[in-house]
Amino acid sequence: MRISSVSLPLSLLTLISSALAAPSNGDRDLHAVVLDVLARAAPESPSGDYAPANVDCPSERPTIRSAAKLSQSETDWLKLRRPKTIDPMIAFLKSANIANFDAVGFVNSNSKNFSVVPNIGIAISGGGYRALMNGAGFVAAADNRVAGSTDAGGIGSLLQASTYLAGLSGGGWLVGSIFANNFSSITTLRDGYDGSSLWQFSNSIFEGPKSSGISLLNSADYWKDVVDQIDDKEDAGYPASITDPWGRTLSYQLINAQDGGPAYTFSSIADDSNFTAADTPMPILVADERSPGTTIVSANSTVHEINPWEMGSFDPTVFGFAPTRYVGSNFSGGSIPSDGHCVRGFDQYGFVMGTSSSLFNEFLQTNLSSYDVPSIFTDLLTKVLVDVDEDDNDIAVWEPNPFYGYNNATNKNAGATQLTLVDGGLDLQNIPLHPLIQPERAVDVIFAVDSSADTTYNWPNGTALRATYARTKEPISNGTAFPAVPDAETFINLGLNKRPTFFGCNTSEFSSYKVIPPLIVYMPNAPYTQDSNVSTFTPSYADDLRDSIITNGFNVATMGNGTVDKDWPACAACAVLSRSLERTGTDVPAACQTCFTRYCWNGTTDSTPVGSYEPTAIIGLDALGAGARLSVGGQVGVAWAVVGLVGLVLVI
Ligand SMILES: *[C@@H]1O[C@H](CO)[C@@H](O)[C@H](O)[C@H]1NC(C)=O
Ligand SMILES: *[C@@H]1O[C@H](CO)[C@@H](O)[C@H](O)[C@H]1NC(C)=O
Ligand SMILES: *[C@@H]1O[C@H](CO)[C@@H](O)[C@H](O)[C@H]1NC(C)=O
Ligand SMILES: *[C@@H]1O[C@H](CO)[C@@H](O)[C@H](O)[C@H]1NC(C)=O
Ligand SMILES: *[C@@H]1O[C@H](CO)[C@@H](O)[C@H](O)[C@H]1NC(C)=O
Ligand SMILES: *[C@@H]1O[C@H](CO)[C@@H](O)[C@H](O)[C@H]1NC(C)=O
Ligand SMILES: *[C@@H]1O[C@H](CO)[C@@H](O)[C@H](O)[C@H]1NC(C)=O
Ligand SMILES: *[C@@H]1O[C@H](CO)[C@@H](O)[C@H](O)[C@H]1NC(C)=O
Ligand SMILES: *[C@@H]1O[C@H](CO)[C@@H](O)[C@H](O)[C@H]1NC(C)=O
Ligand SMILES: *[C@@H]1O[C@H](CO)[C@@H](O)[C@H](O)[C@H]1NC(C)=O
Ligand SMILES: *[C@@H]1O[C@H](CO)[C@@H](O)[C@H](O)[C@H]1NC(C)=O
Ligand SMILES: *[C@@H]1O[C@H](CO)[C@@H](O)[C@H](O)[C@H]1NC(C)=O
Repeated sequence: MRISSVSLPLSLLTLISSALAAPSNGDRDLHAVVLDVLARAAPESPSGDYAPANVDCPSERPTIRSAAKLSQSETDWLKLRRPKTIDPMIAFLKSANIANFDAVGFVNSNSKNFSVVPNIGIAISGGGYRALMNGAGFVAAADNRVAGSTDAGGIGSLLQASTYLAGLSGGGWLVGSIFANNFSSITTLRDGYDGSSLWQFSNSIFEGPKSSGISLLNSADYWKDVVDQIDDKEDAGYPASITDPWGRTLSYQLINAQDGGPAYTFSSIADDSNFTAADTPMPILVADERSPGTTIVSANSTVHEINPWEMGSFDPTVFGFAPTRYVGSNFSGGSIPSDGHCVRGFDQYGFVMGTSSSLFNEFLQTNLSSYDVPSIFTDLLTKVLVDVDEDDNDIAVWEPNPFYGYNNATNKNAGATQLTLVDGGLDLQNIPLHPLIQPERAVDVIFAVDSSADTTYNWPNGTALRATYARTKEPISNGTAFPAVPDAETFINLGLNKRPTFFGCNTSEFSSYKVIPPLIVYMPNAPYTQDSNVSTFTPSYADDLRDSIITNGFNVATMGNGTVDKDWPACAACAVLSRSLERTGTDVPAACQTCFTRYCWNGTTDSTPVGSYEPTAIIGLDALGAGARLSVGGQVGVAWAVVGLVGLVLVI
């Protein structure tokens, strides 16, 4: 009986079980029934398992398209999504209550004109579980379904008012997990379901889920299932890389389905009724391209995005997009040869999340020896690792390369049969801003949640923003623009990494630019009620620490529900409205001017060298936080040891 292959709220399970009380109709039929009932990312792989499989091509054969415009799918979807952001935006603005300004009236009177209505994006940085948890706190605070989010001092409904939700590496685990699980709220994901291993970070991926409930059997089966699934993929003719086992193990924690949902695909989001009805923002994950044997150059590497419809790049190298659903087909020069098959299931959900976080391949590899991992798994790793060059162990192999023979003149991998993708943060752009600064998307404001470990003690210092800014000065920027940002010392000395900071407020900065980039609302991870600077490579978290870091993230997002600045929600609302006010020639309300004086970086720098950056709690550590401070010291010791060894790795 395969019914448990998709875990559901128990009531729904009971319902389906009784509908199926008749003799078992076999896996395939059950999948079909489950799909009918479900409205979410789904086990759509035609193999019914982890391996991709051939399918009949649709009448219009899949092709690679030029990146000159947004896809027709996105354009059509935006026509539904933008109007659906109006009501939540009004709710958000109403509760933000900008003094002496009728923000609600402003949006209402322009509610049919989407070149006026604010177009909002949210970007969640990488940084492993730290980024997942801190990012989750932000998303919870912005989500009007979460208790307390719409209370005074809150920013609830901002999520519902947003068009895009982008994630990278650990931030991609968050965004991925939300969309793999029916756009569930953070509270639902955090608290999980009876018997599910969802967000059970107390058991690391090296141990596997606790053996109970519908989603898991026991640890030996955990490793065996992972190995079997990857063998299936290889047997089907698709070379595995270390990202496969990495993505598989991760999925047990992030996807609430039997065995971490081996048949779940990222493109299935495009069939989720909540998504097609544009009731949710559009999810986007980011990865960087690397040619075998080369390294990532921060300002010059091709950045790919993976969204439910397409994967590819706006950069003038690849400058093309492949249909996510048919990646795995033998595209050549942009089309599938007439004798070639169409393939589906390559865009396996965990593999996509693993690609964006491939940095952790090394974490998987180096930490295994500390755990009692059976040899079938270590043998598998040895096997997939010899398939690629030793220097390329951290890659995700996407073979066949969808961009083979496409844009030969500029596409560095046009002649390669495999596309090698790596962690989206390896080019130091650790916040997924790239998709959101594409002029075609016309985003007005980006809430950029930064959980990077830039400083010795794992706090951000603006490195990710600087990397994105620097890239816009290179030819590869292809028309993208970004506000200027100061050096790391200024971030620390002026406290720009300890409270929300706006960049790009005064658009006269862009007078010589072709486009005005979005206003950036930088939301750095900072200690409000918990030392949320846990090391990137801490593999497990007790439930109370997980919850405390998520709550700290909620406090980062709301400045402690307005206790640190009661005007914060109004100031966030001013940031949302800023570009729209300017486009319509509306006077900036006095309350917003006050906000901008307080939160906009005004060009002042202070590059005085800084010693060790060790912020104290902004509100006061919660009971757990006060206790945890001691143990964080231990992690820092480990982090220190790693600094010398891996350097760059700590940034992500
Ligand atoms: C998905 O969530 C919506 C509410 O947001 C709910 O109505 C629907 O039943 C859920 N679907 C599943 C399969 O849980
Ligand atoms: C802010 O509100 C959230 C949600 O109610 C709560 O979890 C958090 O503890 C509050 N923060 C403070 C500082 O009171
Ligand atoms: C999702 O779909 C369900 C059922 O159609 C609906 O009740 C719910 O409001 C939708 N929106 C979200 C965000 O889940
Ligand atoms: C990026 O590439 C361009 C040529 O396309 C080159 O001029 C520039 O120096 C490179 N920048 C870096 C940082 O390597
Ligand atoms: C972006 O790159 C493409 C492909 O090279 C080119 O056709 C297009 O004109 C570029 N766009 C801008 C705004 O530079
Ligand atoms: C793709 O091309 C490779 C190499 O030519 C071949 O082995 C494989 O069978 C092809 N796959 C499909 C699905 O056409
Ligand atoms: C775990 O992996 C990380 C990243 O590769 C490494 O820095 C750390 O030392 C490893 N920890 C152990 C216990 O092997
Ligand atoms: C592009 O490169 C591929 C692979 O090297 C080659 O087969 C193809 O003929 C080239 N196409 C063009 C238009 O030059
Ligand atoms: C800022 O972060 C970078 C890594 O992202 C690090 O190399 C640099 O030393 C940091 N500088 C300060 C002043 O924190
Ligand atoms: C924006 O900058 C310009 C040029 O530096 C300056 O003249 C103008 O007063 C500034 N506007 C605001 C609102 O600060
Ligand atoms: C939308 O607003 C812009 C800016 O105010 C204006 O130029 C344009 O004419 C408006 N479009 C419509 C259809 O009203
Ligand atoms: C700019 O900001 C700095 C501190 O961040 C402040 O001291 C200075 O007065 C501000 N300058 C102006 C012109 O507002």
